[in-house]
Order: sequence, then structure tokens, then C-alpha cells
Amino acid sequence: MAGITNADFLNGVIPYGFNVATLGGYSLDSPTIEASKKIIQRGRKEFDFPLDMIFNHIANEVDLIKKTHKNVKVSANVRAINPQPIIDVGNISNLDIVEINCHCRQNEIVSIGCGQEMLKRDDLQNFISQIADNVDSEVSVKMRANVEGTDSLKIAHLIEDSGADYLHIDAMKKGVFEADWELLRKISDDVDIKVIGNNSVNSESNVKKMIETGVDGFSIARSVISGKLEFDITNF
Ligand SMILES: Cc1cc2nc3c(=O)[nH]c(=O)nc-3n(C[C@H](O)[C@H](O)[C@H](O)COP(=O)(O)O)c2cc1C
Repeated sequence: MAGITNADFLNGVIPYGFNVATLGGYSLDSPTIEASKKIIQRGRKEFDFPLDMIFNHIANEVDLIKKTHKNVKVSANVRAINPQPIIDVGNISNLDIVEINCHCRQNEIVSIGCGQEMLKRDDLQNFISQIADNVDSEVSVKMRANVEGTDSLKIAHLIEDSGADYLHIDAMKKGVFEADWELLRKISDDVDIKVIGNNSVNSESNVKKMIETGVDGFSIARSVISGKLEFDITNF
């Protein structure tokens, strides 16, 4: 979660039972850094690091987590217009996973063709492949489901074909307060890439619903935003 999930925050919540911790989202180039500044100006939290600091900053944050939690994989969720800065993050030596953000829906990010707007790029598969082919870390793609003008199942296949290791999907469905379980089921059945389901895991009963879709793993954001998780995920 931008502006929130730094090493300090993640070290506090990993003991609830998480085996992957995601830093960020971080903006990695001038257009996305400018967009982050505008988001901050209207009162939303964002990480705000200049270009010459961001790569060292991420490496230091990963160190801070690994010192305390040796068996946890650390991922960094990142935004950029071109693949190169994402490749540079994927080659940070202690980072396990670089996660390409095809998810943010803030106007400032979408208007520069980033975040969920990436899902509409004609060259999305090539964009992801360039990263997957040139990094030492694993690659995750975080996509938002049910974005108007996109076909989520088709994009899931495209991400699978791109050589990414994980499809992390926020299965948000407009007008519904739970994840689109049906879509998650369909995608899990249809693709071979590891699927990490996200959205509305806010109780043990929703953990159960999420797992029953067949996903390989799940992620939690808002339910842990306070630094406390009020339900047990270790029974599943
Ligand atoms: C304050 C806040 C900031 C977020 N920032 C990011 C981000 O930077 N990158 C990202 O991929 N998702 C971000 N998200 C989305 C969450 O990671 C997650 O996909 C979404 O909240 C749905 O999952 P949940 O129901 O577990 O909260 C953010 C969510 C919140 C509430």
C-alpha cells in the first residue's frame, strides 16, 4: 500500500503468518514520480523518493525485513512507463520479487498510461517479457480485474505467456463488496501461472472463500492497514 507498507510496517505484520511481504508501491521514473507528488498534494499517502535514491532505498528496506524475517520473500510493487527502471529493481540483489503495478487507478497515474491503464497497452506482453528476461528476481504482475474495456481472462493468459512467475489479481467487481470469486475460479482453472488472489480477505470465512476458488495464494491489504490482523490466517 503506497505510503504505508515500508519495512517497519511489514516487520510488524509478518508474524501474523505472511510468507511474502510487499513493499511499495514505488514510482521509478520522472512521470510516475510527478504523478505521486500530485497525489500527495491532494492528501493521499504515497512514497516519495527522488530517482537517485529509490534503488538504494528499496535495497535497504529489503535488508531491514530480511534481518528480522529470514524466511519471508520480499517483493517490491513498482510503477514506471518503460521497463528499464523495473528491470533495475528486479536486479537488486536481495530482492525476491519485482511486482509490475498494472493496478493503480488514481487519475494522476492512469492519465500517464500507468497503473491499470497498462492493461490496455498493445505491447503489454512484450513489456512484461523484457522484464522477465532481464532480471534475477521473480516477476509478479499485479492486475486489477474487471477494468472497463479489458478482458481479464485474456490478460491473465497474456501474463502467463509473458514469462512472469505470478499473477497477482485484485478481483474487485464494481458494485459488489466482495471479490469476484467466479472470475478467480475461472482464471485459476484456466492458467498455469501461480495466481495470488486479492480483494476483501477480511475474515476467516472470506479466506475460505478465496482458497476455494483454487488460487495458489492470497494477499491482504486493508484488513492489515492498522498494523493488526483481527483474524487467523495460519489455520488454512
Ligand atoms: C491506502 C492504500 C494504498 C494502496 N496502494 C497500492 C499500491 O501502491 N500498489 C498496489 O498494487 N495496490 C495498492 N493498494 C491496493 C491493495 O494492495 C489491494 O489490492 C486492495 O486494497 C484490495 O485488497 P484488500 O481488500 O485486501 O484491501 C492500496 C490500497 C490502499 C487501501
